[in-house]
Amino acid sequence: MGPRILVTGALGQIGTELVEALGEKHGQESVIATDVRSAPGCRILDVMDSAGIQSLVKGEEITEIYHLAALLSATGERNPDLCWKINVEGLENIIAAAQANGCKVFAPSSIAVFGPDCPSVAPQVTPLNPATVYGKTKVVCEQLAMTAGIDMRGLRYPGLISYKAPAGGGTTDYAVEIFHAALAEGHYTCFVREDTRLPMMYMDDAIRATLELMEVSSEKLGGARGGYNIAGCSFTAGELVASIQRHLPEFTCSYEPDVRQKYADSWPDDIEDDLAREEWGWAPQFDLDSMVDAMFAGLQA
Ligand SMILES: NC(=O)c1ccc[n+]([C@@H]2O[C@H](COP(=O)([O-])OP(=O)(O)OC[C@H]3O[C@@H](n4cnc5c(N)ncnc54)[C@H](O)[C@@H]3O)[C@@H](O)[C@H]2O)c1
Repeated sequence: MGPRILVTGALGQIGTELVEALGEKHGQESVIATDVRSAPGCRILDVMDSAGIQSLVKGEEITEIYHLAALLSATGERNPDLCWKINVEGLENIIAAAQANGCKVFAPSSIAVFGPDCPSVAPQVTPLNPATVYGKTKVVCEQLAMTAGIDMRGLRYPGLISYKAPAGGGTTDYAVEIFHAALAEGHYTCFVREDTRLPMMYMDDAIRATLELMEVSSEKLGGARGGYNIAGCSFTAGELVASIQRHLPEFTCSYEPDVRQKYADSWPDDIEDDLAREEWGWAPQFDLDSMVDAMFAGLQA
């Protein structure tokens, strides 16, 4: 018998592609996609509805939960109380259902766990003093993974770049929006400075990392289980523009930093991911140019 899988926040940037990948791997009938919004093929489930989660997990004999429902950094800092509620209390509801029904859980962390005191290349183990409420909720998430008494795993996703669904209100959204603006308008006004360097990753790498981490036998995973560093490619906004100009030489970008610049400045430039490489064989496949090529191929198809 394969796993019976529940995905929360399934209509978001990651869920759109993870549901597809899980269905290909385990069979569409094994995957129950849920979200607080409605769409064909997706059931309504609010992660604040503890009883609803318990009854779905029990009734559907769920064995694995991919918990993607959350408020991201930019949206979260505009609504800090709601961000804490959805990201922490929502996760606690998922953990309670997993504890009661013996489920394995994947709950993503983020590079937002790092704060201004982190070295520019973030080590796996370093003090976590995030500047945002969103980052604090992700630190709690990593801690709960180690203390909840269940098999719970996570990745510190960098900014994720994809074309199948829009980015969901994070600080790295510019690296997704820029492609749409480049194709539609030939110009983009970027909300971080040209020299802003952040860790990023193409969605295919992120989905593969997620599936690979969840397959590893638990004895191989150590104290970073709640949030492994994984590096994809790290680049400045200006370097991204230059790479896009290989496809669209006329494309221009101007820079008008807003409040998100502050969040970006509190995060590292790059990620050290030796532990993920050693413990479960992580290796990225996309660099800046191959990611940009894949984005254009996807958007133009
Ligand atoms: N996308 C990134 O670049 C990135 C980077 C680091 C970490 N993450 C983490 O990955 C996870 C998924 O991110 P994403 O980019 O897909 O986000 P997203 O904003 O695109 O999607 C989140 C989904 O959660 C749903 N949702 C919101 N409140 C809900 C509730 N109360 N109950 C049920 N569903 C609810 C939304 O409708 C949305 O479809 C989050 O935990 C996020 O913090 C994402």
